[in-house]
Order: sequence, then structure tokens, then C-alpha cells
Amino acid sequence: MCGIVGFAGKKEALPILLDGLERLEYRGYDSAGVAVVSLDGDLQVKKSKGRLSVLREILDTQSPLSGNIGIGHTRWATHGEPNDTNAHPHVGQEGKIAVVHNGIIENYLEIKKSLIRKGIVFSSDTDTEVIVQLLEYYYRKKSNLMDAVYAVLNRIKGAYAMGILCSDNPGQMIAARKDAPLLIGYGEDGNYIASDVTALLAHTRTVTYMEDDEVAVITADDVQIFDRDRFQLEKEKHEIEWDVSAAEKGGYAHFMLKEIMEQPEAVRKTISPRLADGEIVLEELRDAKELMKNISRIYIVACGSAYHVGMVGKYALEKMMHIPVEACLASEFRYSEPILGESSLVIIISQSGETLDSMAALREAKRRGSKVLSIVNVMGSSIARESDYVLYTWAGPEIAVATTKAYTTQMVLLLMFGVYLAKQLDRMEQEEYMAVTRGLQELPEKISIVLSDIDHYQKAASRYFNHNSVFYIGRNLDYALGLEGSLKLKEISYIHSESYAAGELKHGTISLIEHGTLVVALATYEPLVEKSLSNIVEVKSRGAEVIAMTTELTASLIGSQASEMFVIPKTHSLLQSVLGVIPLQLFAYYVALNRGCDIDKPRNLAKSVTVE
Ligand code: G6P
Repeated sequence: MCGIVGFAGKKEALPILLDGLERLEYRGYDSAGVAVVSLDGDLQVKKSKGRLSVLREILDTQSPLSGNIGIGHTRWATHGEPNDTNAHPHVGQEGKIAVVHNGIIENYLEIKKSLIRKGIVFSSDTDTEVIVQLLEYYYRKKSNLMDAVYAVLNRIKGAYAMGILCSDNPGQMIAARKDAPLLIGYGEDGNYIASDVTALLAHTRTVTYMEDDEVAVITADDVQIFDRDRFQLEKEKHEIEWDVSAAEKGGYAHFMLKEIMEQPEAVRKTISPRLADGEIVLEELRDAKELMKNISRIYIVACGSAYHVGMVGKYALEKMMHIPVEACLASEFRYSEPILGESSLVIIISQSGETLDSMAALREAKRRGSKVLSIVNVMGSSIARESDYVLYTWAGPEIAVATTKAYTTQMVLLLMFGVYLAKQLDRMEQEEYMAVTRGLQELPEKISIVLSDIDHYQKAASRYFNHNSVFYIGRNLDYALGLEGSLKLKEISYIHSESYAAGELKHGTISLIEHGTLVVALATYEPLVEKSLSNIVEVKSRGAEVIAMTTELTASLIGSQASEMFVIPKTHSLLQSVLGVIPLQLFAYYVALNRGCDIDKPRNLAKSVTVE
């Protein structure tokens, strides 16, 4: 949600800011802006509604903003509609200070009112503008920028990652963070700030993660970081392993397609370091043996697709471990007074590691005495840092808003964890354990087999892309899978789509099935294939057109009732959803392509949701 990039160095800042913003555009794309300060203190700002390309066009027609220090922002609107004025950076009424900000200032109205009473004139509808107006107000009184920054941070409530420039301090950029991600990059030609490491990969892979309540003063040659009491800190630097090419399209039309095709490799990278001689080895949980033995309940908490992984986990882990597993939406979890304690394990799943609701659920779980294990893709992200144990998915950077490879790697890792724990708890027969681990080893190869059928899914999409409403049905693990298939379709193609537990259809939803309604029936979970077949017959006899997905074992049984078949290789039934999601991703992708949608940047969405 919103992206920040900043540079203080020995080169022109503008190209670096624009390049960084391009890589961050997936975080928000309703407006963009930059501010640059020249050595003699000329603060130049350009911002505009629309995609970054609009800003680039405007900048191309003008003499370039010149200076070696600057901040940039790409916005996903929260307060105030997307327009030129509400775009960041915001500048105080004296034109001295510019600010870019991610997050929400909760007490902005109260501050705004008091500043208006003091005669300050606001120009935007944003919460961010109070930061910059307040900064100029305190700066006027205190004549010291850092004093003013600390005064503002003491006054505002809410979440922020921010970059600040002041025309009186032209060699300096200030950054501050609370409950929104921000990191500092150390490069040869200068130093950087960014809300997301992908903005920096082209320049440096050496970073420091800012923690809550920290303030950094960044110049071309130096970075100083202070805590809330203004004591200077010695912070650790980290080396990022991701390669810059991993965050580029590499010849594909869309990041989403590239990321779908990367799944065999992403799954292999996630599995293989954790399998040794046919045994699952989760080194990360080495110190957790006692904890694992005392676990009697698991909560899997997440948002969006990561929650759908949790649903798969609920069904699969209960079968493996014979203990209650609940999948919870993070936005609901912390307000539902969950029954937690030392014998409950809370698993947080998050690609970005920054989703605010998931982060809040994590803190709530810890507050109530449970240990937290997180499954995260972005190294060093907030959720990873605050968890007791972290299992990283090795999916590499995921840029498309609609998640694909992060989803599959999360699922694989959660299932591996389930098998590992089942073994630790003595809840799984050795034979079954061997069968699942064999299945895990074969997964990358089998994903490649599904992907090799890409033309089939493309053709199917061109037959069905005109439908206005689609229902996904399935039972048990197939129900969980349908939730993700349906979300994929609706988020990128804007087709209305719902997912139902197939057995529940006749309690209401079946009234919506009429001649020509498209139903995607999932029948990959072998123990329930015959029951799913009955549900297919039910919708078919009411005129539905049915796309059915099943495995090669049951293709002939299911095929007799479907207009279109998606047939996937058979694997261990607890792993089947890993293969099952691939055709659904490809189908959604090609449907959206046929409808001319902006696949990587769907309307109203953002990759990383850092507001409640
Ligand atoms: C957004 C993304 C989804 C993602 C969800 C949770 O809605 O568009 O793809 O599943 O956030 O994000 P996280 O980073 O916590 O996995």
C-alpha cells in the first residue's frame, strides 16, 4: 500500500527515484510524485494523478528537477480521492518542507483543526498533510529540524513510514517509521530509503531495517539512526539475496504469468533445503521441540490468498495431526477474543510480512501467551522479525498484485510443517509419512507437467471469458482451493465470482444457477470425488455449464458430466491442492487477458495492505 523511495547521494536523484517508483508501483498506483532539493536549497516538487507513466510524461515536457537528494511516492488512496493535490509529496505552506508518507495518521482531524485555528491553510484532503504542516509549524518555533521531527512524532498517532526533505538542510533526508515498513539501503553513490527492498535491488543489496519509533538522518556519505529518546543506535546491516532480474518481467507479458511459470523453481527452492535423505528437517524449529510436543490447538491467521492457504492447512493439518486447527481471517481474529495460551500455536502466513491485520493478530497472539510461527516470503519483514519462529518461502520477489508463486510456496511449506509436526507428535504412520515426503519431492516436476498444458487453459479461457458470474464449488480441500480460484478470477478479471462448499449449494445458492451459468467444479480430492460428482450433476441439471477439474485417475468418471475438463496429475491427496491451483491461476490470467484487464495492477487493489 503506497510506496516510498528516497535517495541522498552524489548523482542526480530524479532518475533513481523514478526507477525505484516503477518497481514499487505494484504497491499503489493511483498517483505518483517526487520532490528533489538542489544544493542551494531549491525544493522542487512534481506530482500527478494516475500511473507513474503520467508523471514521467509531465516531467519529460519540463526542465528536469535537479538535485542529488530526493523522495518519491506512489499512492493507494486512503484519505482523499486520487487527484494531483492529494498525491504525495506534500509540502508545507511555507514551501520549506516536503513529506512522503505511508500509513494513516489517526488523529489528523484534531491536529488539522488546531493548525487551521493558528492560521495554517491546508490544500489537500489527506491525513499526510498534517505531518508536513505540523513540521513547518514546529520548525518555525524550534529552528531545528530534528527537534521539529521529534515534536511531530510525539504528537501524531497512527502508522507511518515517512521521508522528509527540508530546503534549509539540502544535503539531508530524514526518515521515520512506526507500524509501516521502511528500510535504508547503503550504496556506492549514496544512501537510500524505501518501503520495499525491490526498489533498491538495482543499486544495493545492503540494507538496514528500521524499527518502530526510529528516526534516521541520511546524507550522501552517512546514515545515523536514533531511537525514540534520540540515542544513536548501532544497527545491523543485512545482505539481500534476491537478484534484480527476479523483479523484472524477463520477456513475459505480465509479472503474473512470469510468476505462475516460476512455480516449479520456487517450490523446489522452498522444499529442497528442508528435505534430507527423505526426511523433513525444519532447522528453523530446532529449538522448539518441547513447544511442539505441547501443542493442542493451532490457529492459522492471515489475509486474502494467504488465508486461503490457511483453509487448505485447516483441512490438511487436522487430518495429519488429529488436533483442532482453525483458519482465521486476521482482520477478525484480534477482535474475536481468541482462546489462546501456551498450548496454542498461532501460525501467521504472509507474503509481504507487512500486512497490518496479520501483524496485529501476531501481537495479539503473543500478548495472550501463545508462540507465533510465521510463514513469510520477504526476509526481515516486520512479521518475520516479531515472530518466535520463521519459515521462509523461497519464492523470490512477487510483483503481480494477484499472488501465485507465494501462494503455492506458502501452501507447500505449511504442509511440510504439518507432516513434520505430525511426525514429532507421533501422529502419522511411517508409511504415510514416506508417501507424503515422496509426494513433496515430486511436486516441482508435476507442477511443470500442469504448466505444460498452458495452451489448453488459454483456449478454455477464450471460450468462457464472456460470462458475468462464475461459481466455484468443491468439498473439503477442493472447497479451500475454490476460494483461491474464485478470488484469482474476480480480482484480475472483475467477473463476479463466488466459491461454495459444494454440499452447501442447495441451501440457497443453487437458486442462482440457471441456463448457461458457469460453474467450476473442483473434484481433485479423491476421497470425495463421487460426492462432488453428485453436485456437478445437480448444477448441470439446472442448466449450468461445467468446467470440471480432477486428476487423471478420475477423469473419465467426472468427464462424462462436464463441458470442459482440467485434468491434473495425481499426487498424495494432502498435496493435491498445490497442483490444483495452477490451472485456476492460468484460467483467471487468460480470462483477464481476453477482457483487456490491467492484469498486474488490478483496479482498487494493492499488493501489500498496510492499513486496517
Ligand atoms: C493483498 C494481496 C493478496 C494477499 C493479501 C495478503 O490483498 O493482493 O495477494 O494474499 O494482501 O498479503 P500478505 O502479504 O500478507 O500475504
